Amino acid sequence: MALKTTNGGPAGPNRRAFLSGAAALAGLAVTAPKAFARASDRVEGLLAQMTLEEKAGQLSVFADMIRPPIGDMNPLVNIRNAQTLTAEVKAGRIGALFNGVGAQAARDTQKAAIEGSRLKIPLLFAADVIHGFRTVFPIPLAEAASFDPHLAERTARATALEATAAGLHWTFAPMVDVARDQRWGRVAEGSGEDVFLGEVLAAARVRGFQGKDLKADDSMLATPKHFAAYGAVTAGLEYNSVELSDATLREVHLPPFQAAFAAGALMTMSAFNDVNGIPATANKMLLTDILRGEWGFKGVVISDYTADQELVAHGFAADDRDAARLAILAGVDMSMQSGLYIRYLPELVSSGAVPMAVVDASVRRVLALKEAIGLFDNPYRSLDPQAEAQRTATPAMRALSRESGARSIVLLKNDRALLPLPRAGKRLALIGPFADDRDNVLGAWGGFFADRRLSVDLATGLRAQMADPNSLIVERGCEVETTIAGGFERAVAAAQAADIVLLAVGESQDMTGEAKSRTDIRIPPVQMRLAEAIAATGKPIIVLLRHGRAIQLEGVVRDAPAILATWFLGSEMGNAVADVVFGAVNPSGKLPVSFPIDSGQEPFFYNGRTTGRPAPSDPNGQEYKARWRSIRNDALYPFGFGLSYTRFDVTDMKLSTQRLAWNDTLHVTAKVKNSGNLHGDHVVQLYIRDRVASRTRPVRELKGFQRVSLAPGAEREVRFELKRQHLMFVGDNDYWIAEPGVFDVWISNSSVDGLVASFELLPVG
Ligand code: NOJ
Repeated sequence: MALKTTNGGPAGPNRRAFLSGAAALAGLAVTAPKAFARASDRVEGLLAQMTLEEKAGQLSVFADMIRPPIGDMNPLVNIRNAQTLTAEVKAGRIGALFNGVGAQAARDTQKAAIEGSRLKIPLLFAADVIHGFRTVFPIPLAEAASFDPHLAERTARATALEATAAGLHWTFAPMVDVARDQRWGRVAEGSGEDVFLGEVLAAARVRGFQGKDLKADDSMLATPKHFAAYGAVTAGLEYNSVELSDATLREVHLPPFQAAFAAGALMTMSAFNDVNGIPATANKMLLTDILRGEWGFKGVVISDYTADQELVAHGFAADDRDAARLAILAGVDMSMQSGLYIRYLPELVSSGAVPMAVVDASVRRVLALKEAIGLFDNPYRSLDPQAEAQRTATPAMRALSRESGARSIVLLKNDRALLPLPRAGKRLALIGPFADDRDNVLGAWGGFFADRRLSVDLATGLRAQMADPNSLIVERGCEVETTIAGGFERAVAAAQAADIVLLAVGESQDMTGEAKSRTDIRIPPVQMRLAEAIAATGKPIIVLLRHGRAIQLEGVVRDAPAILATWFLGSEMGNAVADVVFGAVNPSGKLPVSFPIDSGQEPFFYNGRTTGRPAPSDPNGQEYKARWRSIRNDALYPFGFGLSYTRFDVTDMKLSTQRLAWNDTLHVTAKVKNSGNLHGDHVVQLYIRDRVASRTRPVRELKGFQRVSLAPGAEREVRFELKRQHLMFVGDNDYWIAEPGVFDVWISNSSVDGLVASFELLPVG
């Protein structure tokens, strides 16, 4: 049955701005943040006094070469040196600086703006503070495996505490791009392939970064990015173009942004990519019609790094002047690093190519933002060298790094309960390029501002928990992509001398992140050869996988009796892994991305749509089905999957009704029992499927999850709510609709198993 009901339609109450998933669950509505509801007298007064050049200045953002960034994350283009920047700050030609850190230097620069410039408008200091600052927490993808928004909020809060102490007001995070292709390197920076999980974590991270009071010294403005659909770059190739239906854009890629705005985010960053031929940074439909028109966003849009200038390379703008014109007219308020706004906006306005009102609107938003965080009253907020010393790398930060690290680990395999290991009585060999390596624990962004002295490698972490630290032999065997002279021989000898091998293999952090797309997602060949040599010793192998995306596991690594997905866990990586290896922490992580059988399946995600010829469950089934010639199109380890050292049984699934009235709530309950011998956490997941609809629908969609913590033998009821809002999708003309009919619902341990029932959504009235 597919009776079409638009539930409002163009003139009706339920407009395109329908809030899906998590935000709807939380009962949140997209409303204009109060701070921006009306420009204050102060903002209007300033605007009235500003010259065109000062206006363009407020909209211009540059790399902070006064306290120059270390590390290399952006190509060095259009760089202005410290002297030029200071002069321009005094001339009112700069609104914000980014990626410099240090409270004292920021204070001095702020002083130049306040005491040296005509209108005394304070600067904003921004940075790419993604998953920690001096103390580094797990990469966002790893943390997504915790399925724990409270944890994500806590690490974001801790990150803000450290970063605001070092002279920052604003972070270019969280990245909320849904990433369905594991070849894309930036999978590492987001929450994975699922929309619902992405929404929940986007909101949690915004809450964490910003805290309760935007004016507080430790509140850091969040920037959900990259608007929009950057995660859908064709073939997972970085910066590539995006071809996407409007329905998929709205159902998959936009909802995490809405959740982030509903949680209070006041900024967003326009993406590098085009969407269906229109670059995101000149995309009026995205930046104005949807963002402001449909959603009522009143905040600030900043371009990604030189993304406005790149409109020329896109072949969308004729030259730099044209690029500036297109970007501001589409809705980009602030230009990052290109310098195009300060260079061209005054002339574009005076020539009539850009209306003054457009520039004024952007300046108003930027000034309102500065006002919202209290900068006019207290320009030196977050620029306190004393706080910098006190709030950095405290024991509490390190404890949280360790806790979040352990909670991000996913136990993929544990044959014959090989894990956890005893702390005494076994000789262990730790083998692989990541065995005692400290350069690949933080993740691609982590190394940027981190205090690298804090990084704990695996060998150090493991030894610290062993009764006899000398019973751990450490041999790298090879580097990430190259051999070490005699390395294999020494590694094999170490394995032979041990009872159990811990094999630390995978990707380096510079194989992940921005500009690090891979054509295949396997472990590099030299490491596979090392693994084969070790496996030939016959010793039991526990794989400690290092990675920033889902990996294609093969051969002896795939077939090892135990596998832990350990990602890049941050400063405390070695201790966090040791906590799980020796059982101080019972693993409870679940995969936020599907591990395919083969790289060639990418883009591979659990919530693809139904086809007319679904693959048969029998691998030798008929030929003419949606299947590969050589392998099944299944996951090796599906989204949502993860084992524990104890066992959980989910039983007694019940629906409060099998006939859900249009405006009612369905309660789905089940019992979860810890049937094993250890205390543990389990993430119970709820999925739905719309059996028949006016558009083909995903085979499953996550609509809820709950984390339960149970002592051995204990049992608890989990309870989920489903409303019509959770059953909606984007129908004709981009409207969210719900269609009466039958839905399947699963309560499960992953995206492929579970207890199943069905119910019918009844028509309105
Ligand atoms: C480019 C990246 O895409 C973006 O995420 C980052 O915030 C900027 N560079 C600034 O460093």
